[in-house]
Amino acid sequence: MERTFREHLFLLVLCLSVLKGDARYIENNEILKDDIYSVFNLDLKREMPEIPEELLYRRSLRCLDMIAVEGQFTFTAERPQLNCASFFMAEPNEVLSIEYDSVDIDCRGGDFITVFDGWVMKGEKFPSSQDHPLPLFERYVDYCESGSVRKIVRSNQNVAMLFFRIHNEGSSFTVTVRKHVNAFPCNVISQAPEGSYTMVIPQQHKNCSFSIVYPVEIEISEFSLGHYNNIAKRLLPGCAETGDFVQLLGGNTIDSSKLVPVTDLCISFTGPTQMKIGCETTVVRMVSSGRFVNRVSFSYRLLNSQELQNLKLNSIDDFCSSN
Ligand SMILES: *[C@@H]1O[C@H](CO)[C@@H](O)[C@H](O)[C@H]1NC(C)=O
Repeated sequence: MERTFREHLFLLVLCLSVLKGDARYIENNEILKDDIYSVFNLDLKREMPEIPEELLYRRSLRCLDMIAVEGQFTFTAERPQLNCASFFMAEPNEVLSIEYDSVDIDCRGGDFITVFDGWVMKGEKFPSSQDHPLPLFERYVDYCESGSVRKIVRSNQNVAMLFFRIHNEGSSFTVTVRKHVNAFPCNVISQAPEGSYTMVIPQQHKNCSFSIVYPVEIEISEFSLGHYNNIAKRLLPGCAETGDFVQLLGGNTIDSSKLVPVTDLCISFTGPTQMKIGCETTVVRMVSSGRFVNRVSFSYRLLNSQELQNLKLNSIDDFCSSN
């Protein structure tokens, strides 16, 4: 319990520093410890059936917030709040929906509320444009432009966020955030710095990435790409040319297209299956041609400070920021 809390706090601090890095002026930033504690330790109940509205968890939204539970969240401006962001997160096999219940903002006066299908940190996006099914402009849904209360926006992965700007004291809005089962998760941000996961792409031409925003040791335990069994090995050139491969990436951004490849896995599986990646973000990414059912299983755990220290001595910092 204590540990989980620390981890979530770490992630929150990460978000805070990220927004600061964006040179945004964040007002009203005081985070009440007890408040976060209670939120993150609420029972993350399993999906379905949908919780009736009167039983929904309710609380107010802060200008900068991180939410991992379903519920109804209300923001009320006590003064102009010009750069606010809420990060929402669900389990890997879930997606989120965000529904406007009531909105009282001044669109003409420059207020806005925008849902983003993914997360933005330091100006970098998750999932990267290369891995998301929609073009970038369609991932932003602006309330003032698209209008109408009770509109529902659904994410394509387990994370989504809300940006908003409100000029007038007393203006407010309420959204309901729900989680839904996603039978075929593709892009995922891990909630915790340790765990295990199996990524499957069932004969679809797409790319998926599993992102861990912590320095971790990762172990690939199982790995199967269709062509490996079907085509003679000697016919296959380098990984990228095969059209189906798994990449391990590391770096200091959440945009997987800007991370540095640590290793590619495709034809043979002789290299080390266990690796320490001391960057801010570690990603397992699968590129799939659509001809095969591809899968990879892995587990990961947070590096301790001694391990990080050792990696630093080997100039891992240069590596992490080398793109
Ligand atoms: C997947 O990523 C590769 C580069 O790693 C890119 O060439 C390809 O177009 C992407 N595929 C899809 C379906 O987006």
